[in-house]
Amino acid sequence: MNTDNRYLWKHKDLLDVSQLSREDATHLLDLAVSFQEINNRPVKKVPTLKGKTVMLFFAENSTRTKTSFDVAAKRLSADTFSLSKSGSSINKGETLKDTALTLMAMNPDVIVIRHSSSGAAEYLSKLLPCSIVNGGDGWHAHPTQALLDSYSLRKVWGPDFTGRTLLILGNIEHSRVARSNLFLLRLLGAKVRLCAPRTLLPRQYRLWDCEVYTDIEEAVKGVDAIMCLRLQLERQEAGLLPDLSEYSRRYCLTSERLAMANPGAYVLHPGPMNRGWEIADEVADSGQCLVLDQVSAGVAVRMAVLYLLGTRND
Ligand code: CP
Repeated sequence: MNTDNRYLWKHKDLLDVSQLSREDATHLLDLAVSFQEINNRPVKKVPTLKGKTVMLFFAENSTRTKTSFDVAAKRLSADTFSLSKSGSSINKGETLKDTALTLMAMNPDVIVIRHSSSGAAEYLSKLLPCSIVNGGDGWHAHPTQALLDSYSLRKVWGPDFTGRTLLILGNIEHSRVARSNLFLLRLLGAKVRLCAPRTLLPRQYRLWDCEVYTDIEEAVKGVDAIMCLRLQLERQEAGLLPDLSEYSRRYCLTSERLAMANPGAYVLHPGPMNRGWEIADEVADSGQCLVLDQVSAGVAVRMAVLYLLGTRND
């Protein structure tokens, strides 16, 4: 394991990838490769964060992010504690501020927060002296998802994404995954295209300086990877998608559409997948689909994040 302590990591928190320089992102992703080696050992544990406490404060549902932060922290020998909305005093009306101060009173080193409000992680970062990791806030950002996506792409493309084109397909308006990926992929040299119905494109997309399509069959031509997004019906107002079957007919990534991309183009999806709506079964289960590699990468990337933040003052 190569944990290069000479690199000056200057961030107290990880709120979004937009706070990272290319050198920060590259260092973190290189470090994650070292941690992946631990995940492949028969005994998957090192004492790096022994005595540190990581709290997982998930006020929104999660399978991948919560589990992989928990696994990552335990593999680094940190103690972990979880708080979910259900079963906690948030459901009795306790505010975000009081919940955060209550957790801080137990002296954690890192709090990972997922919350439905954009800006919740930044709010905690200003309120609390411990490190805060954004595990997804509203439509705003999901930095560790973008990092694990780039980690997965580096494994198949190599470290420099120059000359590569990736299409982000689907519900871009409501997607924190799209926003964080757009920044990081471009930071690492890739070109990014967007494809969605007009009602699911953010109003500010013209400021994002990327090619935008509404026709999937035009959008997939010449791309090296396609990132499908979840429809996120829970976040959108009624009327943006009047007919799900029409959406699926026009925007579902099928094997026929995937065949129009560059040969061997990879498919990513942050999960959970709505099979048959945004991604067809045969694509989700194909050898071109990196979904489970992304999950595996999530543990290594989150080990790197917790290592960098958890050893900041050592
Ligand atoms: N990709 C992602 O954030 O998945 P979870 O909602 O399951 O954490």
